[in-house]
Amino acid sequence: MCGIVGFIGQRQAAPVLMEGLEKLSYRGYDSAGIAVLDERGKLLIRKEEGRIENLRSVLVKKPANGCAGIGHTRWATHGKPSRLNAHPHTDEKGRIAVVHNGIIENHEDIRRKLGVSCISQTDTEVIAHLLGALYDGDMQHTLLRAMKELKGSYALAVLCETEPEKLFCARQQSPLVMGFSADSGEGHIASDIPALIRHTRDVLILHDGEAGVVTREGMRVVNADGAACHHPLFHVGWDEASAEKGGFAHFMLKEIHEQPQALRDTFACRKGDWLPISKQEAQDMQMVTLAACGTAYHAALYGAYVLEKLARIRARAEIASEYRYRDVPVSENEWFVAVSQSGETADTLAALQKAKAMGMRTLAVCNVVGSGMARETQALCTHAGPEMAVASTKAYLTQVQMFLMMAITLGGMRGVISPAEAEERWRQMSLLPELATRTLQTHAQIERFVSRLQGCEHVFFIGRGLDYALAMEGALKLKEVSYVFSEAYAAGEMKHGPIALLEKGRLVAACITQEKLADKMISNLQEARARGAQVLAVCTEGLAERVRPHADECVVIPDADEYTAPMLAAIPLQLFAYSMAVARGCDVDKPRNLAKSVTVEEW
Ligand code: F6R
Repeated sequence: MCGIVGFIGQRQAAPVLMEGLEKLSYRGYDSAGIAVLDERGKLLIRKEEGRIENLRSVLVKKPANGCAGIGHTRWATHGKPSRLNAHPHTDEKGRIAVVHNGIIENHEDIRRKLGVSCISQTDTEVIAHLLGALYDGDMQHTLLRAMKELKGSYALAVLCETEPEKLFCARQQSPLVMGFSADSGEGHIASDIPALIRHTRDVLILHDGEAGVVTREGMRVVNADGAACHHPLFHVGWDEASAEKGGFAHFMLKEIHEQPQALRDTFACRKGDWLPISKQEAQDMQMVTLAACGTAYHAALYGAYVLEKLARIRARAEIASEYRYRDVPVSENEWFVAVSQSGETADTLAALQKAKAMGMRTLAVCNVVGSGMARETQALCTHAGPEMAVASTKAYLTQVQMFLMMAITLGGMRGVISPAEAEERWRQMSLLPELATRTLQTHAQIERFVSRLQGCEHVFFIGRGLDYALAMEGALKLKEVSYVFSEAYAAGEMKHGPIALLEKGRLVAACITQEKLADKMISNLQEARARGAQVLAVCTEGLAERVRPHADECVVIPDADEYTAPMLAAIPLQLFAYSMAVARGCDVDKPRNLAKSVTVEEW
């Protein structure tokens, strides 16, 4: 989730690129860089770690003059945030500069095949070397050939000394748009519309597998076979502020919609020895403690379930702010995993440090490369991209996914699941992006239901097994963004106390994705309705017929296996919280009293 800009025209490129990068800084901002072709046709590269202002200071000291250039704001995925890893990257001769969004899955294979040594830790540098090796005097054609070798998702912008009158770009599963203004003779490239909305409102949206070229005269796109494409221009009707949110009313909604891509990108990390645990360590593993706060703790609860079930390892989720002050006996071969979107949460970091001090083997699951936790221990990074809304959505879902990936891999290493079963689990996971896209369509139904929920101030979320962990996340999401009182209970616990609270005007939101527990959940729904409460059920297609008669509203998600169905069911719960917050006029992206990253213990 980085940002790309490109410009060619009659005026200086650097100020236009910098303005575009500022507009894209919401996509990531751990480093930034530009490449400009000077009047002699030489590439000038300027880059810097940190915020875009840092790059601006570099340009004051060392200007980059020229009328064509590309730029990038980075959110690290391969290699820590540093000047060296910042884009653009160049080929061996330094004549081709590349900026890239996405992930190249086979970058190691390409690097080996080319026999080049890279100076950065990025997958992007390999693209520059590949283009250098394949270059045949026509970069657009070279890009098409390179794309046949690249595996993964990417949007690329390329600048080339030998074709100084052109900007090149290509796309595969990562957005990229082009724009041209005949009045000014200026061409633009951007990963997101906000970066070029000042210059043109008519944009050409590149499709997967296509390569484009922009000049001072116009733009041209070809498909994978080299045939010209004539896409109609898309007219941008949004203003600049909503354009940053991709046309969505709030970042939270945008991030909910980014989940199919986040799942796809996180799944792509699973290759080779992706898990930094040896077979011997996996077999010796006795216990795993997962510690986290808030939403990440709910992902840890899911993690503990699947590690027990699929990898047959004793596992427990701990609230980090409790764990750090407890006196917990540590068993031999016990591992500790810190879970955190930001990688900076003070309590989770302290729990991690304590675990290290107690001699436990540690890992972190976080969404920010180079964060405090990633520096403290080896990190498994989710690829959710930057999360701007305070309420976590896509980071949560990819944390859950990371634990499922971990459990399948460990289960295989420990010989407790067969290769065939592991294969089936991976296959189910590969279906998630598509199923998540379908699940997003429940939004309209949820909005309609919310509009009928006048004066509902108490919501109980219930579930069993993995759905209990999900119910906890549903309750947290609702309370934090809509300020409606909500609590989660293991459904079997209702009769031990909470049922006393059920009466007319209360809502019970039930998560039902686990076939073997469905009958018990249906009994819970009957109990709730018998006491006058309304029932909102979220269930799988296969269970809908049985659940629907017992619910006031039944939101149906696609069928999926028992591990991935709760992930899909998280989406309607997020949309429910979002719709409730909107209906109640709340500040969705910045709920009261909350901060995105809690880096101090008490505040
Ligand atoms: C809720 C939310 C918080 C965070 C918690 C931990 O939507 O975002 O509960 O999950 O503050 O933050 P990280 O994951 O950054 O450690």
